[in-house]
Amino acid sequence: MASHPRLREVLARALDNGLPVGAGAARLLRGNHDVIAQCEEFFARWLAPASAGVTELKCLLTSSGYQANYLLLSSLPQRGDIILYDANVHASMRDGIRASAAKSFHFRHNDLGDLQRLIAQNKNSEQIFILTESLFSMDGDFADITALHDLAIQHNAILIADEAHATGIYGPTGKGLCENIPRTHLITIHTGGKAFGAAGGIIAARADIIDYLINIARPFIFATAPMPVLALALQTAAQILDEETWRREKLLQICKSFRREMGDGRVENNNISPLPSPIYPLVLGTDAKALEASQKLQTAGYDIRAIRPPTVPENTARLRISLNISHTPEMLDELLALLKTI
Ligand SMILES: Cc1ncc(COP(=O)(O)O)c(C=O)c1O
Repeated sequence: MASHPRLREVLARALDNGLPVGAGAARLLRGNHDVIAQCEEFFARWLAPASAGVTELKCLLTSSGYQANYLLLSSLPQRGDIILYDANVHASMRDGIRASAAKSFHFRHNDLGDLQRLIAQNKNSEQIFILTESLFSMDGDFADITALHDLAIQHNAILIADEAHATGIYGPTGKGLCENIPRTHLITIHTGGKAFGAAGGIIAARADIIDYLINIARPFIFATAPMPVLALALQTAAQILDEETWRREKLLQICKSFRREMGDGRVENNNISPLPSPIYPLVLGTDAKALEASQKLQTAGYDIRAIRPPTVPENTARLRISLNISHTPEMLDELLALLKTI
């Protein structure tokens, strides 16, 4: 998507027609350009559950996914609240948690029993927040969103799901793994830097939560608004993905056949899921092994990186294979042969 001709053309034309490159100020001052507001309205419709009569959904655009997570978590949970987060959530969530006045505990990766134990221990807190990624960025496995959402409803908690790696790919029409779940007990984070081929972040939540963030969140109030062209890029990318459904169908096909050849590549507590994932972790253990393997692959022309602690737990250094639709069957066959030699 990053080099999609229509995406380039729409942005180039908008700039030619006078769209300013920079927003010029914070949103609450002069930085609130029409294209930004239109983009947020577009995504509120794009992400709205299909069923009628659901709670109003609003969106907030940020300059990056990191900012979206940081902004939300540093601002919404209050002293007296409790944040329960999956041990494998992204650094941007962790940094937001650190900046929050709420207490926090992690639960074992994808372990609902451990989460329930923590909920029981903290049932007297004002508000419980449960944090997860829907598709985990380093293990390529999935959270059980339905079960987490059920738990959130049961305990009147709020589930915050980072859909960075799922938006544009999963869900009945590619809106992510939370597609069609009302936002009464759910907030979702979407990033523009992955399937959309651009950058930026979107927080999708109940209108009262978004309005609260607009009034309170310092990373929103005291930052220059996102570049107007970014808002245009995200909206256009979503429209293209809606039209070109073959993209996600092809990607999932590639993931399926790769996984068939490689095995399910599971690491500890990696959710057994029928869904194929474009992130394939090949855990090799030591840093040295992972580095040596990635160098071999890079010499052969495969841009596969070694991911090492602290990004992943000790002794789980790995190759992170990331599949996309430009990968041909021939490339993947050659890669599989190379991986066998490793
Ligand atoms: C799960 C997850 N959340 C958030 C982010 C941050 O998004 P961005 O790169 O747009 O800042 C990333 C990675 O970049 C990610 O993998």
